[in-house]
Amino acid sequence: MTVTTMHITQIGPGCYNLIAPLKNALGKLLKMKTHMSFVQLSTGKFIALSTVELDAASKAEVDALTQNGELLEAVIGTNPFHGLAFEGFYKMYPNAKYYGTPRHIRNIKSVPWAGSIADDSIRTSWMPELDLQITQGAEFINIPSESYNHFAGVVAFHVESKTLICDDCFSYEDNPGALKRLAGISAKSLNFHPSLYGPALRQSPTAVQEFYDWMLQIMQEWDFDQMATAHGGVMKGGCKEALRAALDKAKPSLEGLAKSRGGKLVWT
Ligand SMILES: [Fe+2]
Repeated sequence: MTVTTMHITQIGPGCYNLIAPLKNALGKLLKMKTHMSFVQLSTGKFIALSTVELDAASKAEVDALTQNGELLEAVIGTNPFHGLAFEGFYKMYPNAKYYGTPRHIRNIKSVPWAGSIADDSIRTSWMPELDLQITQGAEFINIPSESYNHFAGVVAFHVESKTLICDDCFSYEDNPGALKRLAGISAKSLNFHPSLYGPALRQSPTAVQEFYDWMLQIMQEWDFDQMATAHGGVMKGGCKEALRAALDKAKPSLEGLAKSRGGKLVWT
């Protein structure tokens, strides 16, 4: 299918986002969108975060941005369940280094992965310009309930553009439909992937605390004011406050999750 609405958008200095149609594993077009991002380092090289299926127009834009892939240093699998476009992207840009999540590496054999993004030494390769972290408290390697538990993934902070880039763990809702509003999701809000309230966090007494402490850490350490999310688009401004509001709203549920795991959430 030819898609005519895919364009790379510069969302900040050195930070580019590409929103694309989303298909399921059978190739069926879904109502939701998905995304990938390109971050340019001070060397001039680019790091691609996730991949999408490129049509001819968006391929031409990626070529123009990266000098036909010459400037594409690395392509990173960020969410274990966003993987359908890697094979095609690799065929277009075979000279970059590809780093996958453990699930990408297990399941996509046609890409010669250079390493696992779960490896600290790889994930910190582009510091201090690009900080890559994994959602804490959640299982990232052998993920339970694969059909819907898409919470865990790499969360990126691009310092120059003050952008937090993630896929599924946080999602921006610009104008939610009636069903989402009934579920308590308001306009222009940030929300957690629903699996947070199900199987996403590990079944250990400390998992919820680890997640909460990590949330506080990124909000304290990362000076972000916009956020690019896979299925809700880009939120401009007020993101840290919105993320804090989402965390506060989730407090009773998180306390319940901690209790159900034999732990206790210390809220600060
Ligand atoms: Fe997703």
